[in-house]
Amino acid sequence: MTPPESTVQRLVITRPDDWHLHLRDGAMLRDVLPDTASRFGRAIVMPNLAPPVVTTAQAQAYRERILAALPAGMRFEPLMTLYLTEDTAPAEIERARASGFVHGVKLYPANATTNSQAGVADLRRCGSVLEAMQRLGLPLLVHGEVTDPDVDVFDREAVFIERHLEPLVRDFPRLRIVLEHITTTVAAQFVHAASDNIAATITAHHLLLNRNALFAGGLRPHHYCLPVLKREMHRQALVAAAISGSPKFFLGTDSAPHPKHAKESGCGCAGIYTAHAAIELYAEAFDRAGALDRLEGFSSFHGPDFYRLPRNSDTIALERIAFQVPDIIEKGGDTLVPFRSGESIAWRIAR
Ligand code: NCD
Ligand code: ZN
Repeated sequence: MTPPESTVQRLVITRPDDWHLHLRDGAMLRDVLPDTASRFGRAIVMPNLAPPVVTTAQAQAYRERILAALPAGMRFEPLMTLYLTEDTAPAEIERARASGFVHGVKLYPANATTNSQAGVADLRRCGSVLEAMQRLGLPLLVHGEVTDPDVDVFDREAVFIERHLEPLVRDFPRLRIVLEHITTTVAAQFVHAASDNIAATITAHHLLLNRNALFAGGLRPHHYCLPVLKREMHRQALVAAAISGSPKFFLGTDSAPHPKHAKESGCGCAGIYTAHAAIELYAEAFDRAGALDRLEGFSSFHGPDFYRLPRNSDTIALERIAFQVPDIIEKGGDTLVPFRSGESIAWRIAR
């Protein structure tokens, strides 16, 4: 059923936050940060740098580099994360919690995605760390995909839930978990049915595209991300979860800049850059679903409520005026191909 076309032309919402973001470092950080900081109040910053951010001291130094890269007059709060390894010590979790600026610990299954080589091959080796996180209420942020080469790429999330997430939740029932960038009906149902300790982020690109977008008229490397796009029925389940009003689902762009040459290659990198139009893309997705009235909860309330942070107190305004995305943008001395490159987006930020 097609929802009734909305007549809303302008929408004012509490300033949103991005609960899953890749900012990178150095010149790339400097050039991508304003795209996020001009839209969002805060972002959960992923720690998959090379080398990864594994200690609270490294997170503090990275946080300072982010704040130093922020253009004068812009306000933005980076919410830092640690990269979990099999060598992470419970004392590091204590330090992270005490810092006040580390808001989660990221689980990358080893070799699941970009810069995840130092991730976790066997979660059973992390018991004392997970115990400390459960005790201290520090959330575990999960890249939920198995890396077993015998598992079909499109089934990696569902198999992760069955093999790893269900046992984890049984063993650590009070551990607070965010299943990041969910992509399937299985993940949406799992989160819906789980306790209030379990939440999920959803990207704009997974709300807007299904896997056909990877092969539309030829191979489309700029639509390749991990977890990879799934079938239309899964996209519909994600839209249903996002617009459900459930506080378990919130905005996380997973905006992940890679230079054009690294994506248009014989072995192209995973990651889609959406930070240039992130909230605009979510507005378009919610509008298409006839649910603009649910955008604010998803974008601005559910995330801070789960992370036990105050909601932002200022607002942003969006208007239904289409704008054209450039074919390419220059960032960090490299060329990026932004999401919707050369095409239009139906909503823009009101100036
Ligand atoms: C991310 C990146 O490039 O850092 N890529 C992606 O496809 N999402 C890593 C990640 O979140 O998996
Ligand atoms: Zn990511």
